[in-house]
Amino acid sequence: MVPISSRMKTKVPYTVPKLKDFSPAALDEAVRTLLAAVVREAGAVTSESEWKVFRDRWMARTNGFLSQVNTLWLKAAPKDAKRDVGQRVNEVKKRVDETIAAALERMQGMTSTSRLNAEHLDVTLPGIKRPLGAEHPVIKTMNEMVGVFRNLGYSVEEGPEIETDYYNFEALNFPPNHPARDTQDTLFIAHQESKPLRERLLLRTHTSPVQIRTMEKMKPPVRVVCPGKVHRNDALDATHSPIFHQIEGLAVDTNITFCDLKGTLDHAMKAMFGSSVRTRFYPSFFPFTEPSADVQISCIFCGGRGYRDGGPCRNCKASGWIELLGCGMVDPNVYGFVDYDAKRVSGFAFGMGVERIAILKYGVDDIQLFFNGDVRFLQQFG
Ligand code: DAH
Repeated sequence: MVPISSRMKTKVPYTVPKLKDFSPAALDEAVRTLLAAVVREAGAVTSESEWKVFRDRWMARTNGFLSQVNTLWLKAAPKDAKRDVGQRVNEVKKRVDETIAAALERMQGMTSTSRLNAEHLDVTLPGIKRPLGAEHPVIKTMNEMVGVFRNLGYSVEEGPEIETDYYNFEALNFPPNHPARDTQDTLFIAHQESKPLRERLLLRTHTSPVQIRTMEKMKPPVRVVCPGKVHRNDALDATHSPIFHQIEGLAVDTNITFCDLKGTLDHAMKAMFGSSVRTRFYPSFFPFTEPSADVQISCIFCGGRGYRDGGPCRNCKASGWIELLGCGMVDPNVYGFVDYDAKRVSGFAFGMGVERIAILKYGVDDIQLFFNGDVRFLQQFG
């Protein structure tokens, strides 16, 4: 008896026959021989590299067995047999494909049982813990301040960071060429000289334009806070950043007075910094408020005394006061831009820098820390 292995070797290797006859019976025979050959060859494969040779013999685009089947069987078929031959050829391709894929799985030991074993999953193991993120200190401060005003019945409005000259300046009563514009270190978008001034685009330098946008769409009574990002052409150092955040506030109704402004801001500062903090209002100038004031709070580091640890307090430069925000009664000219009746309504506005508040609240000594993204800094606010 001849041993199986040498019987295999002596077997004539498969070649795709030319078909003389395209009858169903002849096709059956050709397909049967072909499939027997592919199954036999698949069974003889013992390694991945052998499998590759085997695959190429059958699948190679030029002159692989399947491409030969295409030429010798399908293309050669007479017109009336094409349909039938086409179906058989498709079937052959599918079966050959499957046989070759199965051979690879076998090579990789990837039968369904071994695969199940390999991918065994113990669902009782503890999961992977992903650390929870924390609010960024700037956003946290902003949310806290917004929360204080929400509790007073204010709602929140937002506006675009790319603004027109009209909203950032003109409607806020900064006339063209007025020197007050110089204080804003504006970043303008280039190549807009052909547009009228009021339509030219810039990066908003403050959140005050949202006041105008709000009054355009809402009739009094208005009580809103407008948090957001602003941009200035400032060189960066420990206290300046070209990008920072502000919160704007606006209240317009009948009979709103400077007293309401003082009471509101005094309450907000106490809510943020503690009930022992005192406020004081210092005359100032903003084009969109009249009168205008800067608000100072008693120094939270030295309790307003001006000295600490036997020396002058560095945080308030020994004055006992820290300047924190701007405010005032809305200038009647502003009402003119939004169709409010300046004879019937009055209101106040205020604006504050969020980073500045966060710096004081958390004792941060460099504004850059907020933007560098160093997790060792950020983790302290979890
Ligand atoms: N927009 C001002 C600035 O960025 C801040 C400000 C001051 C806003 C007084 C106000 C205000 O609403 O009444 O310099």
